[in-house]
Amino acid sequence: MYEATAMLRQDHDAILKMLDATEQVAGQLRSGKQVASDILSGLLEFFQLFADRCHHGREEDLLFPLLESKGMPRAGGPIGVMLHEHDLGRDLIRQMKESGQAYGGGDTAAGARWAVAAMGYAPLLREHIFKENNILFMMAERMLSDEEQRNLAAEFERAELEKMGAGTHERLHKLMDTLLAEIA
Ligand SMILES: [Fe+2]
Ligand SMILES: [Fe+2]
Repeated sequence: MYEATAMLRQDHDAILKMLDATEQVAGQLRSGKQVASDILSGLLEFFQLFADRCHHGREEDLLFPLLESKGMPRAGGPIGVMLHEHDLGRDLIRQMKESGQAYGGGDTAAGARWAVAAMGYAPLLREHIFKENNILFMMAERMLSDEEQRNLAAEFERAELEKMGAGTHERLHKLMDTLLAEIA
């Protein structure tokens, strides 16, 4: 009966796994270990496409506007806080992109910069997910009817097909499995 919020919670589980792996990689870089640059680019792709474009897109384009239309204010409430945290995350992802590319191009000092950005990103997103799971989604689950949840879940699927194309979700899950295996 909580179809849409259950999908978002599932996304969160996948993102949390990748955050743990990201911190592991950051620890390796900080201790001066070499990390294959395809691991850094793979993590970047996951966070840019799965976490930001797809998952934050579901929240920003569909869930939050629906909650606003049902009376939850954007400013001064949880939606405003969540949007702000998405932006903070995007900034850190930009830093991970720049330093990851420099590292891949042979600038080994950029590994430390990647680690600093990643060590900022992982706790930010982990706390963000905790707040959504335990505050915002609980409010949404009280506010939305079964039908609204069902319609929202269908819109999530439709938007993803439009934005990412067929098969992307599966490809990203595969990328996630490959990266988790490589990092462990
Ligand atoms: Fe979010
Ligand atoms: Fe989320």
